[in-house]
Amino acid sequence: MKKDIKNRADIEMLINSFYDRVKTNAQIGHFFTTDKHIDWSAHLPVMYNFWENILFYTGQYNGNPMAVHKQLHQEFPLSKEDFAEWLRLFKQTTDELFEGENADLIQQRAQSIALVMEGKIISPHF
Ligand code: HEM
Repeated sequence: MKKDIKNRADIEMLINSFYDRVKTNAQIGHFFTTDKHIDWSAHLPVMYNFWENILFYTGQYNGNPMAVHKQLHQEFPLSKEDFAEWLRLFKQTTDELFEGENADLIQQRAQSIALVMEGKIISPHF
């Protein structure tokens, strides 16, 4: 039986495994490898903070993901298919590693944030 996401170490494992898949993904890998030159030692802790705050309300993340992805979209356009693939990989990673209330919750949050982000970026007039 798989365990639930209980602490930051679990979030780190989830995000590391997610990015292993993202970076080698034929559809969305390019955003993270050739398009942007991401400083992973800076970016990964930001992502751990973001997700830890979502599950455990640590108050550690104070960035603006909507603005970051709007900017990204202007440089390298994001499509509906890109969002669908991002979400598919996030769900797949979570399902393979964990199960339980927090695993369900993180998937729901990922889906709702992705939906809002996609709406704001791809159909900004609605
Ligand atoms: C098509 C889907 C997506 C792509 C290709 C994508 C790509 C990226 C890239 C390249 C960055 C780094 C940008 C930079 O540092 O200049 C980034 C940052 C980030 N992404 Fe995404 N992303 C996607 C969807 C999402 C979704 C759905 C979420 C949340 C549920 C998310 C959460 C974040 C966060 C929190 C950051 C860090 C923002 C900050 O620096 O404060 N991303 N993303």
